[in-house]
Amino acid sequence: MTHNRLDFPPDFIWGVATSAYQIEGAWNEDGRGLSIWDTFCRQPGKIRNGDTGDVAADHYHRMPADVQLIGDLNIPAYRFSIAWSRIQPDGKGKVNAPGLDFYDRLVDNLLARKIQPFVTLYHWDLPQVLQDEGGWTKRITALRFAEYAQIVAQRLGDRVNYWITHNEPFVTAMAGHYTGEHAPGKRDLTAALQAAHHLLLSHGLSVQVIRSQVQRPVNVGITLNLTTVHPASDSQADHAAALRYDGIQNRLFLDPVLRGRYPEDMLNLFGPLFPQIQPNDMEIIHTPLDFLGANYYNRTIIRHDPDYPLVNLQEIHLEGREYSQMWEIYPEGIYEVLVRLWNEYHPPKIYITENGIAVPDGLDADGRIRDYRRIRFIRDHIAECHRAIQAGVPLHGYFVWSLMDNFEWAWGYDMRFGLVYVDFKTLQRTVKESGRWYSQVIRQNGLDLNIGAPYFPC
Ligand code: FCB
Repeated sequence: MTHNRLDFPPDFIWGVATSAYQIEGAWNEDGRGLSIWDTFCRQPGKIRNGDTGDVAADHYHRMPADVQLIGDLNIPAYRFSIAWSRIQPDGKGKVNAPGLDFYDRLVDNLLARKIQPFVTLYHWDLPQVLQDEGGWTKRITALRFAEYAQIVAQRLGDRVNYWITHNEPFVTAMAGHYTGEHAPGKRDLTAALQAAHHLLLSHGLSVQVIRSQVQRPVNVGITLNLTTVHPASDSQADHAAALRYDGIQNRLFLDPVLRGRYPEDMLNLFGPLFPQIQPNDMEIIHTPLDFLGANYYNRTIIRHDPDYPLVNLQEIHLEGREYSQMWEIYPEGIYEVLVRLWNEYHPPKIYITENGIAVPDGLDADGRIRDYRRIRFIRDHIAECHRAIQAGVPLHGYFVWSLMDNFEWAWGYDMRFGLVYVDFKTLQRTVKESGRWYSQVIRQNGLDLNIGAPYFPC
């Protein structure tokens, strides 16, 4: 048997990711305030099957056992998010001690098992009180966010080495304020652009706050959801539409954070819709980072559509390609994104902070979950990450989305992304085949393509 191994650098960080609203439940316990997702889920027709995150995976009550599970799987890093409304129920002022205590215990539990915490401060769950005052469309929300960041950094900064300010501000801005698929459900491009600018501003402010609050070397970054954009055809119109889409999803966020300015074509495109930028804003947003987090799921194919002259968010499906329940499977795209990031933006370090696939898993007669398709997906993406490292990209870690099945936003519980299966009736956890396989990848610090073979009969 020939040996076909892809070895990763010795200090490469393997992890799994989750977010607060998607797993915690306990929506009204221990002083937690309402978030925009609590409110959004209660609006009829917004979430499949009328699902909510009220219970989710009940992680709030099962946290020690969940951490033990991560440890048992031999996973050395865990990315989770903090629910702002547990820390400040109104998003400002008074601090809710039991909320902070919960994350303090979580960090201690992780460290006791030598699991490195990666803390995300914002994964979409704005306190409702701030939304009532205008939410991300208002500049004051950026200042409130910096205050919240300071409270968390003060409490956890002695133990947490990796900080992520925001998760996917593009999604907060566009799905939350333009398409309305996510909370707070607005449909207004001007609001979306305002939100984008204030999210970016809050990012820069909180990077500075974390650094000044934590008096030791820590790593601070932001997570963007990046996609590789291909035109549907060779036509000039499709090329122009693809470039515009790349501007909106990728460059509108990358350029300010890593170059200190908005892309010229975006400023021209949106013209007067663009929010007011105050002196120093761009400098704050451009505060140097220790790393960039990239979430990669799929590529985006764009066709010009005269009905959407500015932003075409229509999805295009191609004949002969493989799709998962949600998106096209395109592993080469993770390589394209990484190489592009490195060539055009030179971030000091990159982590893939999310990558994964929704598969309709279920238990077989013997109680096992044979999610071979997920294994193949993750294997193929890890192999492309390896190729990017070989090409010189400073990729320092990779996180699977997700540790366990959870509340997948507008899709509710229909989409399962976990390495661990959650029975949402009993809340019992069962490790899937992908979980066992990933654990083996970590033990070997890479892919042994021969050992993987039984998993891939086709
Ligand atoms: C990402 C989100 C994450 C999860 C995955 C599938 O956009 O960050 O919460 O929903 O998609």
